[in-house]
Amino acid sequence: MGDMAHPVSRERALAAKLIESLGIATAGDHFAAKEFFELTLAAMPADGSLPTDSAQLTGIRVAQEGLHQLRKHRRGLTEDGVLWIGRPDFLSDDWLQDIREELESRRPLAFEHRMGQFLCAGGEAVTRLLESKELRGLVESFVGPLTSKRQASCLYYDREGACIRPHVDTDLFCVNANLIVEHTGYTERRSQLIVYPQGGQPRPVVLSPGELVLFYADCVVHARTPLMACERMRVISFGFQPENEFHK
Ligand SMILES: [Fe+2]
Repeated sequence: MGDMAHPVSRERALAAKLIESLGIATAGDHFAAKEFFELTLAAMPADGSLPTDSAQLTGIRVAQEGLHQLRKHRRGLTEDGVLWIGRPDFLSDDWLQDIREELESRRPLAFEHRMGQFLCAGGEAVTRLLESKELRGLVESFVGPLTSKRQASCLYYDREGACIRPHVDTDLFCVNANLIVEHTGYTERRSQLIVYPQGGQPRPVVLSPGELVLFYADCVVHARTPLMACERMRVISFGFQPENEFHK
């Protein structure tokens, strides 16, 4: 997985030269470079695959490398950005049930964010988890000290075809703890979170309700593939920021 084990790819070397030539010295430089690389991601398919067109794929590989290299000094950053997957031991069944009921009661408040994803802020039970020292401690155990900024977004997917195209997250969600609250109505095929490692094939992250994936979401491309008919999901994204790096 490291650079020592494989020859450095052309795309990796090109992205490194690009970033070096940009002479990034300020947060403004950093985010201009990030936005430049992000533009390329519009060429990616929504179904979790990579482009078949070789020119498009080369452009996307350079963008993936560039986004990753902009954050290369982070603790524990791997090719796919995933830090941990599991059910947090502090999230009791009762607490999860409170969160599930709260999300249901707040469904009418959610607005359509994009591609059939509806979003609203958390209520009391979600905020309690966002502000908990247990969740913060879990995140800090992998990434080190965090800034004081944090945010929770409750995400609703209720209809066939709802999805999130390949993207990287905003600066509020550098580290994303993505908790599945509810997932029903699927058969053998279902909507999945996909992470796109720099060199390899896209990787599905399969989670059950109560489980979360902790990953570096602003520098590793990821997507949610389209929901099937009758499928329904409730998800919470908790966003955190590592200290001692550029932020908006
Ligand atoms: Fe995201």
